[in-house]
Amino acid sequence: MTPEEFRTYGYAAIDWISHFLEHTREYPVLPETSPGELVDRLPRQGPELPEPFDQILEDFEREIVPRSTHWNHPRFMGYFANSSPGEGIIAEMLAAALNPNGMLWKSSPAATELEQVTLDWLRQWMGLPEGWFGQILDTASTSTFHAIVAARVHKGHKCSDATLTLYASKHAHSSIEKGAMAAGIARENVRLIDVDEEFRMRVDLLEAAIVADLAEGKVPFCVIPTVGTTSVASIDPVREVVAIARRHGLWVHVDCAYGGSTAIDERYRHFLDGVDGADSMVVNPHKWLFVPMDLSVLYCRNREWLGDAFSLVPEYLRTTGDERALNYHEYGLPLGRRFRSLKLWFTMRGYGRVKLAAMIHEQIVAAKNLAAQIAAHPDFEICAPVHFSLVVFRHRRSDEFNQSLLDAVNETGEALLSPNVLAGRKVIRLAIGNIQTNAADLAAVWALVQEKASELGGSISREG
Ligand SMILES: Cc1ncc(COP(=O)(O)O)c(C=O)c1O
Repeated sequence: MTPEEFRTYGYAAIDWISHFLEHTREYPVLPETSPGELVDRLPRQGPELPEPFDQILEDFEREIVPRSTHWNHPRFMGYFANSSPGEGIIAEMLAAALNPNGMLWKSSPAATELEQVTLDWLRQWMGLPEGWFGQILDTASTSTFHAIVAARVHKGHKCSDATLTLYASKHAHSSIEKGAMAAGIARENVRLIDVDEEFRMRVDLLEAAIVADLAEGKVPFCVIPTVGTTSVASIDPVREVVAIARRHGLWVHVDCAYGGSTAIDERYRHFLDGVDGADSMVVNPHKWLFVPMDLSVLYCRNREWLGDAFSLVPEYLRTTGDERALNYHEYGLPLGRRFRSLKLWFTMRGYGRVKLAAMIHEQIVAAKNLAAQIAAHPDFEICAPVHFSLVVFRHRRSDEFNQSLLDAVNETGEALLSPNVLAGRKVIRLAIGNIQTNAADLAAVWALVQEKASELGGSISREG
């Protein structure tokens, strides 16, 4: 592509993006497609010769967009919602233009130092202790895997060892078990501790499990409480978990992938109570700080603990050791590193902490208001306390009814909610988090849920 062609097609792409961002609501959140449809529609072999670029753009619009689930849609409320506003999109484009590989300071001084600067800003915004070392990875799953490996090495176990034992709650994200699995921890040595009535890890059971494991000759090495669990957004008692971990010599990694960013608002700082005593934590700005996929941040109390686990410097990567020249590859698994900090920098500067905090606050208030409306409806019930922006509810009829209701809502393409099973019962998750979601969207989704419930003949109150 010549610079002239780039200008032409680049403007066309920007026009398309601008229109898309303005009219996202007009797209169905969930596409009408079936598995394999796109595979069948595209050629089985890649092109031998160049194709005209306008044809490629046309195919993007005709083939790709209609088969996309629109995570950028304001009524995408399944899983945990995320966003890519203009600031992040432009930053991604510019990062691709510079295309640095931030493995060493020398391979990209700007990418390296901007990562240091933005992560220190974020650390301060969340009230984490001075001196904690941050690095950007793709996802919370990868960040947690890094923490588990570092914890194992810190315990003095460099290889897999059948006695190493790890603890999390029954509501912990599957990435914890998966990270342990990939780190060579035996599946049967991952203890998922039971929770209390508010879905918080029970610390009495945690300590009892550690004591029992020690008596059996196991080596408890890591505990992972969560601030904002995926299923119900519950908050484990991190401070008490840390106290137990200190008594028994365990590493504490806190999964704040979803809930952590709320701490940029003083009103929600208490959610991170106790995290300052942990050894590492993960927060995902790509979940709830309005930064496009992907950007997860792993903070660790001591940079060298990550170095102990991941530093291996072959001759061709050796640099003259200037103390201020940070070589990120020595603290994590990837050698090549994308310039992800640029989109964090653009977002942090484009909004400022006060505006970002206000947006998060508004979404928490909106979630609580919606939960109050749902709780007031005789046919529905709220199934978990609403601390953040996740509302977990169910229709009082059967599990089958809730599944049909969820399917009926999602099939309209007007909103996307997600299922879960809580205490053996089918529940519906509604997660607010997209930057464009407004009060009208929430009212529309709640109206849609009620409409579909009554179409399915679900009014218990009328019968009663
Ligand atoms: C609490 C929590 N931890 C970890 C993850 C995994 O996140 P990622 O997709 O960044 O690996 C999720 C995903 O939703 C989550 O909710």
